[in-house]
Formats: sequence, structure tokens, C-alpha cells
Amino acid sequence: MPSEPGEIDRAVALLQAGELVAFPTETVYGLGADAANPAAVGRIFAAKGRPADHPLIVHLPADGYLERWAREIPAIAWELSEAFWPGPLTLILKRAPAVPGAVTGGQDSVGLRVPAHPLALALLQAYAGAGGGLGGMCGIAAPSANRFGRISPTEATHVRAELGEAVQLILDGGRCPVGIESTILDLTAGDARPPRLLRPGRVTPEQIATVIGVLPEIVSREQADGTPRVSGSLAAHYAPTTPLRLVAPERLAEVLDSLQQTGRRCAVLCYRPLPDAGATHALRCLPADPRAYARALYAALRELDQTAADLIVVEDLPATPAWVAVADRLRRAACGSGREADFGKRR
Ligand code: TXA
Ligand code: MG
Repeated sequence: MPSEPGEIDRAVALLQAGELVAFPTETVYGLGADAANPAAVGRIFAAKGRPADHPLIVHLPADGYLERWAREIPAIAWELSEAFWPGPLTLILKRAPAVPGAVTGGQDSVGLRVPAHPLALALLQAYAGAGGGLGGMCGIAAPSANRFGRISPTEATHVRAELGEAVQLILDGGRCPVGIESTILDLTAGDARPPRLLRPGRVTPEQIATVIGVLPEIVSREQADGTPRVSGSLAAHYAPTTPLRLVAPERLAEVLDSLQQTGRRCAVLCYRPLPDAGATHALRCLPADPRAYARALYAALRELDQTAADLIVVEDLPATPAWVAVADRLRRAACGSGREADFGKRR
């Protein structure tokens, strides 16, 4: 159900009081708190069950607020914010002195973005109009509104299912139009070196290059797992509890057949029609377009996770640039999901 009038005011009052509010962004739902208030930020970590040394993204009402949060801002940061904000790009910059360590996981950098969802922007603007939290910093810290390591929520009902009563208010903005988390770009090396892409997303390296004239350096999972810490870059993340296996399209029918012969209930996620669909325990066929696929992916994984299947079998994606971001999420989901070896013990 869409949010009622007056809910933005309630949300602002809760944020000002150091409480949590979940809200939609164009990527996924966020679990928000006053980013300048260490006690409020602490509530986010408690609600998510997330380790306190993992940094959070701070959401701002506009790029005009950047200087409150970042220092030594390179020219490329202004070029990128001009081109992509509001939108699904997070910039990692050196943090300003006023930024509490609670929100940066103790690091000297801070993740910042201006989200494009109308409800998120309305919330951020109303919050700024009402004082903008401690010190008038006007930033809302918000990780994805799921339990640590689990699938990000793309609908308000997912947030309630993940976090229950830990969050007093969930602003309902319907289904998130992008569906996977923002692109994260590390600009802490300044203008002299190419930025580093820490997490792929809707904003692609090629789009970034058209603005700043150079392709970002793609950071491997292993590198990104070090410092600075990017929890979305952990090999196991965005995961269902049911074991998840990626299978090459040309082997899908054969693998399903042999799994089903051993009595396994297979829930299948594909993007092309499945010839022998009737034999599967559950089936979701997503659009064969990467953007439409991304929009539907997390809701589909949640649904299949709840079908009491023994295994979620996912048709592997084409190895082309357009599919990189969703393929990244699926690989992490496969790593973090339940163990296939537990088949038999689970019934
Ligand atoms: O689309 C999104 O980015 C969503 C919406 C709610 O904005 N947020 C999101 O937040 O995905 P979260 O916390 O689930 O993931 C944020 C990622 C984490 O992997 C975190 O480690 C990384 O951003 N991050 C934040 N600050 C950082 C920093 N200073 N250095 C390196 N990574 C940072
Ligand atoms: Mg997350």
C-alpha cells in the first residue's frame, strides 16, 4: 500500500529523534537513521545484525551538501554527481572532520549518494527543512533494509519480513525501479588516478568513462574484501537460505533432469522458456533484458526461497557487459546460500 500523506512528517520526526525509518530508493529499500548521530547509526547495526566496522552509505538531498560530508573533493566527483545524481551511483570520498566514525566503520572515507526515488528525495528535503538531524548535517545513513548477508528488499513487504518490529515506520513507494544496489566508485585517490569500481550496478564503467574520460579500474572481489571494506563485495552476500546453484543455459535441462531423478525439489529461475517446465517444483521466468531482469530478481529469489525447494537452480547469464551487475549479485547469492550438502537433513 502506498504511503499515506503525513507519513513523511512522521518519518522526519522519528529521524530527528534518533529512530529508524525504512524508505524506498530507486535501487532497493534502505534502513535510515540520522547519519550524524552515532547512537542512531548504532540502531541500524543492531537491527540488521551487521558488524559495526562495515561502513554505511549516507544519502543526501542534493550535491550541494557534499562539502559537509567530504573533504578534498576531486573535480571528477563534481562531474560525476552532476551527470548521475540523483541516481544509483555511490561515491567514496575522504570524509569531512564532522563525520562520525560510526557511519564510516572507522575509515577515513565516506560513501555518499543522492537517491532518485521521489519518496526518498521528499524525505531528504523535508528532513533538511526540519533541521536535518544533529549539527544540521542533513544526511540519512541507510544500508539496504535486510538482515546482514541476505537479499536486499525491493518492496515494502520485504522490509517488514526482514526486520519486523525493529523498524517503526516503513515508507511504501512500491517496487524499486532499478532493483539492485547502486554502483560504488572509490574516488579517494583524487583526480590523478582512475577511480576504482568497488561494486557494479546500473551505472556502468562505460557510462562513467563518457563523463570523466577514463574507465574505472575494476576491483576484484578479493581486493575489495580488504580495506576499504565493502560488505556488498563479500563473496557470500545477497543470499537466500535455500542452496542456489548457477547452471549454464545449455546444461539446464540435463542438470534439472538428473537432480529431479534424485528426488530433489528444484525451484528454477530462468530467462528463457523452459521446455520441460511441468517437472519443476517452482518456476520463475524473468525477462531476457538485463534492466528488467534486475528489477524483478530479488523479489523472485525471495519467492523461490519460500517454496520449500531443496535447491534453487538459476540459468546462468550471458557474459556480456550489460549483465555484469546482475551476474555479480547471483554469484554472491550462490556463495552465501544454504549448503547443498545439507540435502536430506533439511526435511
Ligand atoms: O543502492 C544502494 O546503495 C542501497 C540504497 C539503500 O542506497 N544501499 C546499500 O547499502 O546497498 P549497503 O550498506 O547494503 O551497502 C553499501 C556498501 C557496503 O558494501 C559498504 O561497505 C560500502 O557501501 N561502503 C560504504 N562506505 C564505504 C567506504 N567508506 N568505503 C568503502 N565502501 C563503503
Ligand atoms: Mg546491503
